[in-house]
Amino acid sequence: MNYFERMKEKYEQLKKKENIIILSVESSCDETSVAVVKNGREVLSNIVASQIEIHRRFGGVVPEVASRNHILAISSVFEEAIKVAKISKKDIDAVAVTYGAGLIGALLVGVNFAKSLAYSLDVPLIAVSHVHGHIAANYISHQELKPPFICLMVSGGHCAILKVEDYNKFQLLGSTVDDAVGECFDKVARVLDLSYPGGPEIDKLAKSGEKAYTFVHSSSLKNSLNFSFSGMKTAVVNFVHNKMQKNEEINKADIARSFQEEVTDELVEKTLKASKEQNIDKIVVAGGVGANSMLRDKFEKACKDQKFYSPVLKYCTDNAAMIACAGYYMLKDGLGLADLSLTARATIQL
Ligand code: KG4
Ligand code: ZN
Repeated sequence: MNYFERMKEKYEQLKKKENIIILSVESSCDETSVAVVKNGREVLSNIVASQIEIHRRFGGVVPEVASRNHILAISSVFEEAIKVAKISKKDIDAVAVTYGAGLIGALLVGVNFAKSLAYSLDVPLIAVSHVHGHIAANYISHQELKPPFICLMVSGGHCAILKVEDYNKFQLLGSTVDDAVGECFDKVARVLDLSYPGGPEIDKLAKSGEKAYTFVHSSSLKNSLNFSFSGMKTAVVNFVHNKMQKNEEINKADIARSFQEEVTDELVEKTLKASKEQNIDKIVVAGGVGANSMLRDKFEKACKDQKFYSPVLKYCTDNAAMIACAGYYMLKDGLGLADLSLTARATIQL
């Protein structure tokens, strides 16, 4: 029997096993991460080697540089994850890996590492979507959380409202028609000369600013669950350039505050609209922008008839624990088993 045929049998048997240990690998962007998670929600280790300092001097992630640094980091991150989890390699029941969406070269490092590991340990390999992982991060932070719920998925590459009907069943209710929201945070931060990544910098600066400006909004999407952020981003960029050309002073904190107020108002308003329309009273936020303090505060205040969930900050941004969690629920439903032809994908459907 070849590897995949053997794994099909093992996958079936694993579903019934009492305690399942999954080792997961995440390398879709600029974080090299390996985690060990028991039964989907108990994190035994979650090691994240961030490349932020390396990319900061370029003002953003340089894909080729990211791939090379993943190669340099992955083996030691793996060894550390095993050590911190206090397990031995033979305790690993399955390997889960992010195979998309993300930077192809970066993803390939994780995918190839995970394939080799799964093959050498003779355990199943589970192919996990990065977005699915972000949603699953909430199960780690909230042990009682179960679908169905409405999820606002906001990161550097995504902006969508999803109905999570079950652990592996999603319905897209709305999404951005242009830029992802994290991308806008990063662009606005760049024009304000803040360091990379821009989201946390805007978040910090906005605390000392006032809502002094209104930036244009796309009104054609007002009644839908879709978003458009590129108009607002361009309005901020033009506003700043205009002031600079006239040699006029700009108040960066006021700009950061005004931009962030508008973006977060729209995100909260549309997510609540989806919750009411679908008659689902659990609201969950996922992805890096979900770490935004104003967004979290506004949800807490606005959710009177709903219950609001967000991951603890370390599980909001990229990490491997969330991939193991998603992989666990895929395994339980018999989904995602990959063979050794698995490859990285820049874009994938959830
Ligand atoms: O989920 P993530 O780590 O990676 C992707 O899958 O894209 O998200 C990264 C994005 C970046 O755009 C970053 O600026 C943004 O999340 N971000 C934030 C905050 N923390 C990270 N945006 C707003 N406020 C924050 N506190
Ligand atoms: Zn992410």
